[in-house]
Amino acid sequence: MSTDRIKGDIISGKQFTRGQMEGLFDDASALKSVFSARKRLDDARGRIIATVFMEPSTRTRLSFQFAGVTIGASVIDFGSSDMSSIVKGETFEDTMRMIDDYGPDVIVLRQRVSGNAARAADICDAPVINAGDGSNEHPTQALLDTFTIRELMGKVDGLTIGMMGDLRYGRTTSSLSYVLDKFDDITVYYIAPQELKMREEVTAQLRNLRYKSITRPDDIMEDLDVLYVTRLQKERFTDPSQYDALKGSYSITLDYLRKFKKVPIIMHPLPRIDELSVDVDALPQAKYFEEARNGLYVRAALLKQILNV
Ligand code: NCD
Repeated sequence: MSTDRIKGDIISGKQFTRGQMEGLFDDASALKSVFSARKRLDDARGRIIATVFMEPSTRTRLSFQFAGVTIGASVIDFGSSDMSSIVKGETFEDTMRMIDDYGPDVIVLRQRVSGNAARAADICDAPVINAGDGSNEHPTQALLDTFTIRELMGKVDGLTIGMMGDLRYGRTTSSLSYVLDKFDDITVYYIAPQELKMREEVTAQLRNLRYKSITRPDDIMEDLDVLYVTRLQKERFTDPSQYDALKGSYSITLDYLRKFKKVPIIMHPLPRIDELSVDVDALPQAKYFEEARNGLYVRAALLKQILNV
């Protein structure tokens, strides 16, 4: 078990030390066999995890729930916002205060508004895990992405990673940048149309990683160890005509990848729409489903640390 354990609220990819992440990844690796043997632990028996998703989710919600139950905790789900008193006009603040008053040991929160994970953490006594707040951050996705890279490449230091797609509205790529910034000798290519460039508010906070913003990956594809593809965040466009104009502006297909002598590992936080075609799945470099499965191990390890069990 790692010595430098993670405690309290998880709000940003910026908050972790390298030691905490390495320890978490070791714990996550050790939990793999529990999941593959379908074992159920009782370490967290008697603990309650509240999953509160106020925006759609498949992987993040379900992997937190499966992870929680597998370590022995009970999970209470908030359900859909449409079925809650939010539709009657109850505020986010009152909703969070109420949930916290019922006594969960940890709250996993997804929210539409950037900054609302931090806001919830101020209101709630229970630790709050940010499972995505608007276009701001998605720190646990960044942890599982970096764990996946470490598992596949044997290391994180020294790698060259392309992040492609909607870097303006995407929250996985900002958190992943903050996490990778704690490793050494990393080069990141931000690959996006001009309109969807990585936010300056993010790059301004990077201290260690080298980055370059480009619009097309062709010239650097063979230098990449990992290509991390993301979808256009349709729901966050204020102008639907801009979404229509940009959709289809980048797409990774098998035909396209065949042009290169070397194809990097392909990752994607999922869901994919049309930026990553299903024919790529047949390549040995296609690792996005493994990445999604890694979410179980990393989230189970993280919940154990936060619950101190
Ligand atoms: C991501 C998200 O919600 O930000 N999904 C996920 O958690 N795996 C990526 C996305 O929705 O594009």
